[in-house]
Amino acid sequence: MGRGWIGLGALAMAAVARAQAPAGPINNGSPFTTVTGEVVQAHGAGVIKVGAYYYLLGENRDGYRFKAVSMYRSTDLRRWEFRRDILTSASAPSLRVANVERPKVIYNAATRRYVLWAHKENGENYNEARVVVATSDTVDGDYVYQREFRPLDHESRDMTLFVDDDGSAYLISAAANNYDLNIYRLTEDYTAIAALVTVIKGYHREAPALFKRDGTYFLVTSGATGWNPNRASYQTAAAMAGPWTAPSYISDPRTYNSQPTFVLPVTGSAGTSYLYLGDRWAPATGQQPNDSTYVWLPLTFPTATSVELPGASQITVDTAAGTVALGHAGTTLATLRSASRRACARVADQSRSYEAGVIASDCRRDPGALVEARAEGADLRYVFQHSGLCLAEAKSTAEVVQTDCTVGTRAAWSMASGRLLNRASGRCLVVAGDPRARGGKLVTEACGSGDDERWILVS
Ligand code: GAL
Repeated sequence: MGRGWIGLGALAMAAVARAQAPAGPINNGSPFTTVTGEVVQAHGAGVIKVGAYYYLLGENRDGYRFKAVSMYRSTDLRRWEFRRDILTSASAPSLRVANVERPKVIYNAATRRYVLWAHKENGENYNEARVVVATSDTVDGDYVYQREFRPLDHESRDMTLFVDDDGSAYLISAAANNYDLNIYRLTEDYTAIAALVTVIKGYHREAPALFKRDGTYFLVTSGATGWNPNRASYQTAAAMAGPWTAPSYISDPRTYNSQPTFVLPVTGSAGTSYLYLGDRWAPATGQQPNDSTYVWLPLTFPTATSVELPGASQITVDTAAGTVALGHAGTTLATLRSASRRACARVADQSRSYEAGVIASDCRRDPGALVEARAEGADLRYVFQHSGLCLAEAKSTAEVVQTDCTVGTRAAWSMASGRLLNRASGRCLVVAGDPRARGGKLVTEACGSGDDERWILVS
């Protein structure tokens, strides 16, 4: 009996420990991995919640071409389990050589089917401008290709789906060479177009993500600059048919180096948070689409009809509570200070761009100088808070810049006796130029023994 009691007690303790374990961070700008260690390939993602699980689906490519829509699931939005490639290049002859982008899944209660829509191209160019529709009896089952078409003959490029409280579902897609955003109501079974509801004309926006909060519809979009990040905006309306306000910009000029793909309401005991899901597209830094990473941030609402997107290199999500916090309690942001110069690494001109130079400047603890030191295996990465980008050696010079954290070893460092060694060149981080001057460029040089090579993380 005694043993049984102890056993149960230990079990109960383990359960409590599990429930109270602080959630780990979600690292923006680094690949997400599954619980078994594979890289999550879910770009241009959507999410559908079924039971306790959030199912994440997105683009998984072979080079630039379509390979699969891959699906993962998680209860905490952090630990992902691969489920299946739910639609693949073998699902239909027309998908063999194709592009399938921004897939989204919604559930139709009447037919008890999950319905997938995505943007479909021929794999050569972006002229087909179609949608593809596929259905499945289970959320993570094999989706059966139904058809592909232009909605009511309109071009359809970047797109999303939205299901309203009354069960009406909508396709929102970029039309007229991305100048218009068309909103269509879907048929009762969600597999076809019932009607064109409205055209949001002439703003040249794409990457739509739509959500509803306290009766207001919010449409978040990007500008149309291909893979390169630009400034996201939002529009609001009291009804899907409009009128929609003109776009208002969110404050970050490059949307924390991301492009919107989805807004996920996360509801728990403390209410609902609205999680922005964005893509940091790797082709913008000369890499392949599957090298792209994710930028997930909590939207904030200064008023009932406005939205903001504060940045951070990490977030903490508590799905049980329905809360999303910037940063992570286990991470202390620090300045990277030169031991000899009383100056700190700071991105020149407060640039948010890839390959922007880094200088030694004042040590104010503002996002331009604050970094998160992120350990990835033996590598250290230093993620600037104002851009989300990593301290790196430039592509072909010894200058030091900020760029996408995934560009390879030139964005990785190791620390030995206070020296910061670049993993690509093996050279040490120093400040160039006159030691008395402010604003010297950060560069790398052959490691010697100078004081100039020593760096301190000041938190
Ligand atoms: C962007 C679009 C992405 C992808 C890319 C290709 O405009 O939002 O989903 O299609 O172009 O260049």
